[in-house]
Amino acid sequence: MTYDLVIIGAGPGGYVCAIRAAQLGMNVAIVEQRAAAGKPRLGGTCLNVGCIPSKALLDSSERFADAGRHFAAHGIVIEAPRLDLGKLMKRKDQVVDQLVSGIAMLMKKNKVTVLSGRGELLGSGRVAVLAADGARSEVAARQVVLAMGSLPVEIPALPLDGERVVTSDQAIAFPAVPKRLVVVGGGVIGLELGSVWARLGAEVTVVEFLPQILPFCDADVAAEVQKVLTKQGLRFALGTKVTGCERRGDDMVVKAVGADGAAVEFTGERVLVAVGRKPCAGGAGLEAAGVALNERRRIQVDARFQTSVAGVYAIGDLIDGPMLAHKAEEEGVALAELLAGQKPVIDHHLIPNVVYTHPEVATVGLTEAEAKKAGRAVKVGRFPFIANGRAKAAGEVDGFVKIITDAATDRVLGGAIVGPRASDLLGEITTTMVYGGSSEDIARTCHSHPTFSEAVKEAALAVDGRALHA
Ligand code: FAD
Ligand code: NAI
Repeated sequence: MTYDLVIIGAGPGGYVCAIRAAQLGMNVAIVEQRAAAGKPRLGGTCLNVGCIPSKALLDSSERFADAGRHFAAHGIVIEAPRLDLGKLMKRKDQVVDQLVSGIAMLMKKNKVTVLSGRGELLGSGRVAVLAADGARSEVAARQVVLAMGSLPVEIPALPLDGERVVTSDQAIAFPAVPKRLVVVGGGVIGLELGSVWARLGAEVTVVEFLPQILPFCDADVAAEVQKVLTKQGLRFALGTKVTGCERRGDDMVVKAVGADGAAVEFTGERVLVAVGRKPCAGGAGLEAAGVALNERRRIQVDARFQTSVAGVYAIGDLIDGPMLAHKAEEEGVALAELLAGQKPVIDHHLIPNVVYTHPEVATVGLTEAEAKKAGRAVKVGRFPFIANGRAKAAGEVDGFVKIITDAATDRVLGGAIVGPRASDLLGEITTTMVYGGSSEDIARTCHSHPTFSEAVKEAALAVDGRALHA
């Protein structure tokens, strides 16, 4: 039979595309190579080794840190909490397993055929499936979607061994809390998993090549995050270039050149390498089929997600843009709708980005630096959580809200929040931007009291120098 659509890769890009295409009446098959106990594991990086396990660990470790460090300030007196890492990990695995089986149910409900094995593009409309037992079959499709996601970047100075020098795939499942953990890369994974292990008792040092952590943020935002995480016990070595790594007894020693040009060493039982991810563009027959990559080594697509091969499309981490689950999902939906003749629109400038540290860091749109670099005159409003009544009541006073607007029109160009529930608070700024709104729109909207969201309103007022509580 010929499917309307065959999708290679069942991450949030692929499986969501499958569901939407099925809703629109297409006959869909999805090919996934990840499997356990003879069954395909759907959900991709996100569910299996990414968003979900890391957030389960962040939530559990935050509770542990709260019980150990913060309850007393609320007058809750308990014995020092004891960690059962095995149980914490088992809970994480159960959360992952439940969600992974949920995707299998969704495939069934939407009558999507799941093919277990490695997908290989043979050309327009033809995909081979290589099963784990070596069996090879071929499927025909009117359209093919590539959604194979991404893999961790490796650096020659730090060869991975899967045990002591590892990626996030292993750092979400260490069997014991390392006494000392060296994290190479002060980006999203480094700070999230660095936070997890620091909260559980590891001495964590983050080694970052650039002069600031979180390079996609404005310097003031990154500095605030660094200040707060430093208070939580993380150490940072910025502007530091890793040159090598060697084993000394039970430890790994990471060698580097510090910001001052002097040689420096970082010692830990384990080293987490988190220096970015790269598209999973190898091993799926793309080169032979003639699928072109762009200068950033991502699959090149046009505005309709079509690759250089007719009838072959690509979405998610494989193509340009932030490597985020919700971006992949939006693209999966949009592609299915395009193939069904609809006219969906995604504004790639308005994809929010959240780092789930405590406090969270949430950004959308342009940073102040990017807006200025683009030659735009901007006005910026900032409001600190220490001046927000609810934040004070909750003892969550670190961080601020920052709103960047066009100086001439007051249109909101971007927003950044470091603070309690930043991920949820950012929604208001994102929605305002989707509708082309201004800081005045936010400032004139009545916000409930006492809420963290009043800090967003105050930052909007601050754009015009009229914040009420600061
Ligand atoms: P993936 O999720 O990578 O899925 C691709 C699938 O294709 C995989 O299942 C893979 O096995 C399969 N595949 C690959 N090649 C083949 C082949 N030849 N044949 C068959 N199958 C194949 N993003 C967020 O938005 N929020 C977060 O909180 C977040 N946390 C993260 C934490 C970590 C530790 C990591 C590593 C990533 C995190 N991400 C997060 C990023 C997010 O996981 C990715 O952006 C998202 O999963 C990309 O979706 P995708 O569908 O493009 O690819
Ligand atoms: P990243 O791109 O976020 O950060 C990598 C960091 O490593 C950067 O700060 C970079 O300057 C630094 N770096 C690069 N080479 C280095 C070197 N040789 N030595 C020291 N530092 C070096 O990448 P990360 O953290 O690996 O995450 C990959 C992607 O996964 C993210 O970009 C994001 O798209 C996704 N992700 C999203 C999450 C979320 O949405 N909350 C959580 C985790 C991952």
